[in-house]
Amino acid sequence: MITAVKGTRDLVPPETRVWNAVETVAREVFFLYGHDEIRTPVIEPAELFIRSVGEASDIVHKEMYTFEDRGGRAICLRPENTAGVARAYIERQMAQTGGVKKLYYIGPQFRYERPQKGRYREFRQIGAEIVGASDPASDAELIIMLFDFLSRLGFSGLTTSLNSVGTDACRGSFIEALVDYFAPHKERLGPDDQRRLAQNPLRVLDSKDPAVAPLVASAPRMLDVLDADSRSHHEELLKMLDEAGVPYRIEPRLVRGLDYYTRTVFEVTASGLGAQDAIVGGGRYDRLISDLGGPRTPGIGFAIGEDRLVDVVPDGFRKKALSGRLPVAIIPLAPGDRGPALSLSRSLRAAGIPADVITAGKGPGTGLKAAEKKSLRIAVLLGEDERREGTAVVKDLTARTQEKVALEGIVRYLQTMEGHP
Ligand code: HAM
Repeated sequence: MITAVKGTRDLVPPETRVWNAVETVAREVFFLYGHDEIRTPVIEPAELFIRSVGEASDIVHKEMYTFEDRGGRAICLRPENTAGVARAYIERQMAQTGGVKKLYYIGPQFRYERPQKGRYREFRQIGAEIVGASDPASDAELIIMLFDFLSRLGFSGLTTSLNSVGTDACRGSFIEALVDYFAPHKERLGPDDQRRLAQNPLRVLDSKDPAVAPLVASAPRMLDVLDADSRSHHEELLKMLDEAGVPYRIEPRLVRGLDYYTRTVFEVTASGLGAQDAIVGGGRYDRLISDLGGPRTPGIGFAIGEDRLVDVVPDGFRKKALSGRLPVAIIPLAPGDRGPALSLSRSLRAAGIPADVITAGKGPGTGLKAAEKKSLRIAVLLGEDERREGTAVVKDLTARTQEKVALEGIVRYLQTMEGHP
């Protein structure tokens, strides 16, 4: 038997209804905030992520699916989508059409991580980016949009953890201070943290090693050494979030695992997910586009881990998504009834009634069993007698009642039965 690749999974019905419902709300809400969809390729040059997410990041260092294509190019399956959006922004010269670009995307991402609950090698993100705006009002608007979306799914009590990682101007001296602080305790750091300390010291603050936690707790704080502009950016953002009633918690150790961030970074976690509890990560990336060779263009965005989101989406939303309309089963009893069954199904669909023609098996018994297995509630049986009379037998599979109905009145009859006039 051939099975799905480790860390990947099939999304199957009826669960896909929940996914679709979540995506529909995302599209509606993002549209209300002026965002348009962008779809970038799933494969990108490996170089793109090395230069944006960063060579020393865990993602690039050990989680990328990189391969050489037949033309000898180093290609990878995208581990995230912000770099692709930035590449497209530059390549498609979006800066020239002026103003701020508000974009969103929904799609699969790939990271070679150790699979566990909430962590997959293929996972999906719903993300949004505002490119071309440096004002803290755009940070605020993006986070407000995120919470608007989450509350329309029925989430309550979620809070965003927020920090500022400043700009290059203040980060240099902060990193020196961090290295000075951790260096005397080097032997307490595991191999991963030692590598981080050497290559990307900020990431030590993100250490998951319990032995390192007390050290991290009293490490220097970026917020204490922010340059004046970054500080006022941060403070203005907090003020706007307060005014909008968006709940946040300042998290001075939050650094995020991607190198392109400047100033604002944030994360939303949800309970019920175990160790992989981050459902959203985001932040500002004012250097990213110029680092990739584009014009100096600031940006900010977030990505929601859709797999995790669907896992913890409130019951009310899930139930509603799953209780969608069911098709009416149309069951031809003999081969000669198949043509009339197809034509009846077309009339139903033309009237907006979903119809599922069940031709499998012989006799009414097998057709009805198949309809019941699919949990369908209404079946229309077409047989020789009915063909002669221009009628059909309509069965209510829940109430176990049935009635002979003239074909010309059947659409109205089913509409009343379904409760969809
Ligand atoms: P990220 O924090 O790497 O940020 O990923 C965002 C979210 O994707 C995470 O919070 C998590 O919910 C989900 N996620 C990440 N890895 C996995 C996995 N292996 N399995 C399941 N879910 C996962 C980014 O990707 C940035 N591009 C976000 C961003 C957009 N920053 C600015 N704009």
